[in-house]
Amino acid sequence: MPTPGSTPRPSLRIKPVEAQIAEGGADAEGHSLRRTMGLFQLTAFGIGAVVGTGIFVSLSDIVPVAGPASILSFLLAAATCVLSGLSFAELAGVIPVAGSSYAYAYATFGEAVAFLMGGWLLLEYGVSLSAVAVGWGQYLNELTGTLFGVALPDALSNPPGDGGLVNVPAALLIMLVALLLVRGVRESARATTAMVVVKLVVLALFVGLALTAFDSGNLLPFAPHGLAGIGAGASLAFFSYVGFDAISTAGEEVHNPRRNLPLAIVGSIGVCTVLYCAVTLAAIGAMPPERIGDSPAVLSTIAESVSGSATGAAVIAFGAVVAIASVVLAVFYGQTRILMSMSRDGLIPHVFERVSPTTGTPVANTWIVGGLFAVIAAVVPLKVVLDLTTIGSLAAMALVNLCVLALRRQRPDLPRNFTVPFGPVLPLLGFAFCLYLSVGFGGSTWILFLAFSVLCLLGYVAYGRRHSRLAVATDPVEGAPIP
Ligand code: ALA
Repeated sequence: MPTPGSTPRPSLRIKPVEAQIAEGGADAEGHSLRRTMGLFQLTAFGIGAVVGTGIFVSLSDIVPVAGPASILSFLLAAATCVLSGLSFAELAGVIPVAGSSYAYAYATFGEAVAFLMGGWLLLEYGVSLSAVAVGWGQYLNELTGTLFGVALPDALSNPPGDGGLVNVPAALLIMLVALLLVRGVRESARATTAMVVVKLVVLALFVGLALTAFDSGNLLPFAPHGLAGIGAGASLAFFSYVGFDAISTAGEEVHNPRRNLPLAIVGSIGVCTVLYCAVTLAAIGAMPPERIGDSPAVLSTIAESVSGSATGAAVIAFGAVVAIASVVLAVFYGQTRILMSMSRDGLIPHVFERVSPTTGTPVANTWIVGGLFAVIAAVVPLKVVLDLTTIGSLAAMALVNLCVLALRRQRPDLPRNFTVPFGPVLPLLGFAFCLYLSVGFGGSTWILFLAFSVLCLLGYVAYGRRHSRLAVATDPVEGAPIP
């Protein structure tokens, strides 16, 4: 493992924490991101990043494998996220910069691993941007169908492989959100806060409505497929939590990041867990588990059957449209900030780091990300992007848990206002939980994931290693500092 002050091979070059913090916030022309967010806004931003497609669509996948014990699947996925979230909180407090996991990997395991982490984050943020936009398009169709009896034909609302040709609403949503983001973080954060309130209210309404038809008989047998079913359910439930670490990408745009980042991460996971368990319990209480698997838009279906009118379904569909749009906003934001950090380090082209002096946002970066993932949303099947998002997120989080341990060993001197308790135990558990959830994926997902990871490493060798800003300061042949 490289240590500061040593003269490692290029791939093992580390970027010291002090350098990351000192640099954080300005592009080559000195234009900085603006510090505009407080704790409340940041927690809302986290919830905005997390509560989305997952809770609105995934019960119909989770309940058939886990039964009423789906609540335990959500808790198991939440435990994985809390353990990893604590690691994020410790690291985000020490390295409060926009790069998040990428920055942590660069400070501990070196440049090649940091580049690979950047690739995995492209799965967690960029590909999930496409996945949640596809879910949004489906609910929009449901909403317009219920309200006006008009829905887009399959050919224009699904990708090839999912019964269509091109997913127009998903691609359009991504481009609209790009427009919002280039206008500046203040507007984006306000919009996110408003959308978070709407989706919390709609989900609370769902819980209230479903509880009026609660039948405790639906909870038995509680775990028809035993522990294996609960574990498989947890792998599926994990998608519903993906995104909480977007908070740590806002390090340069938040007041008092050392205090607010850890609090917002733990707080938003807690709120989401309570919400998911309440929704799951209410849903299973209102509809026998064997019927839940029949319906993709399961919350709308339950609302309609409990209330006996289409209004309930329309309200839930409206909530889903709002909720999912806010997830798109948050993950899109996170993706642009990660690319910005990599670009500042010279590992990817400089166009990604430029901040517009008028808006204070990375305009070109935002349009490139929007264009790429709009195309993916338009033409790649949902199952493929969902699985890739989840496996990429689990890989990134597994590594973040190890970064905590590595940084403690390498830099015990750094001030930590939050330290994960019980020494190495919780980060190691977090790592093990991530690994456990990722083994549930099929061979084709693993093959795609490994092929993508190899491509990333090739990208590092072909471009990143030679253009790295750390390389400019060291002898390219020997890797030694130039006197
Ligand atoms: N957690 C996010 C969602 O459920 C990705 O949509």
